[in-house]
Amino acid sequence: MQKIHAAITAVGGYVPDYVMTNAELETIVDTTDEWIQSRTGIKERHILKGEGLGTSDMGAEAVNLLLKKRGISAMDIDLIICATTTPDMQFPATANVISDKVGAKNAFGFDVNAACSGFIYALNTGAQFIETGKYKKVIVVGGDKMSSIVNYEDRTTCIIFGDGAGAVLLEPNNEGTGIIDSILRSDGSGRVHLHQKAGGSVKPASMETVMNKEHYIYQEGQPVFKFAVKNMADVSAEIMERNQLTGDDVAWLVPHQANKRIISATADRMGLPESKVMINIERYGNTTNGTLPLCLWEWESRLHKGDNIILAAFGGGFTWGATYIKWAYDTK
Ligand SMILES: CC(C)(COP(=O)(O)OP(=O)(O)OC[C@H]1O[C@@H](n2cnc3c(N)ncnc32)[C@H](O)[C@@H]1OP(=O)(O)O)[C@@H](O)C(=O)NCCC(=O)NCCS
Repeated sequence: MQKIHAAITAVGGYVPDYVMTNAELETIVDTTDEWIQSRTGIKERHILKGEGLGTSDMGAEAVNLLLKKRGISAMDIDLIICATTTPDMQFPATANVISDKVGAKNAFGFDVNAACSGFIYALNTGAQFIETGKYKKVIVVGGDKMSSIVNYEDRTTCIIFGDGAGAVLLEPNNEGTGIIDSILRSDGSGRVHLHQKAGGSVKPASMETVMNKEHYIYQEGQPVFKFAVKNMADVSAEIMERNQLTGDDVAWLVPHQANKRIISATADRMGLPESKVMINIERYGNTTNGTLPLCLWEWESRLHKGDNIILAAFGGGFTWGATYIKWAYDTK
């Protein structure tokens, strides 16, 4: 009997309406459009504006779109996993808030926090629930309202991040398509280079932490860059090697969108031309957990059943990983 694979069977995405261009950032910090584009590849990013709106609102939009496309009801969903670094609140889990907002009353849910690798971790977590045969419909959401933790006085970070969310539906498949293989890694010693200093149990929020701007992203750009270039490329090459895939066999690379230069280094290492790489960083910036599902959402109509697709990510922690998917459907 064929092994049960977890296959992506529908994709949804959402980016907020407001577009923050590099020109707008020029009016806020000492930077230029030319610097931002040449160092990162980013031209603009979307920002979620409006009182009381958070990651769950974007996630719920993506899930509703996905349900509509697949023609199923929210009541059919068994589980929602949300990968996010900017949960609506410390607790409860944003997945539970999304379940409530979309009416997934039969689903249980939880969050995964692995910074920018969260979506890949959550996708593989969701796949396990399908592969056991116990669950039939699992939604994995990746989304972040990065603007809620970006310091718009820090030109080294505020240029990079944007807001957005995507979602995929996982269902059992016994035709040999779906999630085939994954390599997931982490190294907690890397936390010194990329983290949020306050608001957790080590340093709870206080007047002092707010005054010191310790609730924003702290990032040492260069060590993160070096780490990302090496590890995202290594793990992508490794997953190709152990599945006997050459550059010709791979239809698409879906890379985390943190910096265009990191994406290019990974594609080069895999022997892939840019035409086989999903890149939307110029319009969205780094939406953290949103990057991979937003790429799948945008490229969905160009994907074909049987396409070999490699997802690759890295992020704070450090965390990194790659997943090999044989795409399961043609879009009608
Ligand atoms: C952040 C990042 C874009 C900075 O690019 P970089 O080429 O490494 O730039 P550097 O940090 O070496 O800075 C070079 C110069 O540009 C300046 N600079 C930094 N940000 C700037 C900005 N927005 N506009 C203009 N100048 C800027 C620096 O102050 C520095 O000036 P100096 O030489 O006078 O000191 C890059 O390091 C990066 O992408 N790192 C990885 C970040 C990442 O992927 N994060 C997400 C993890 S999931």
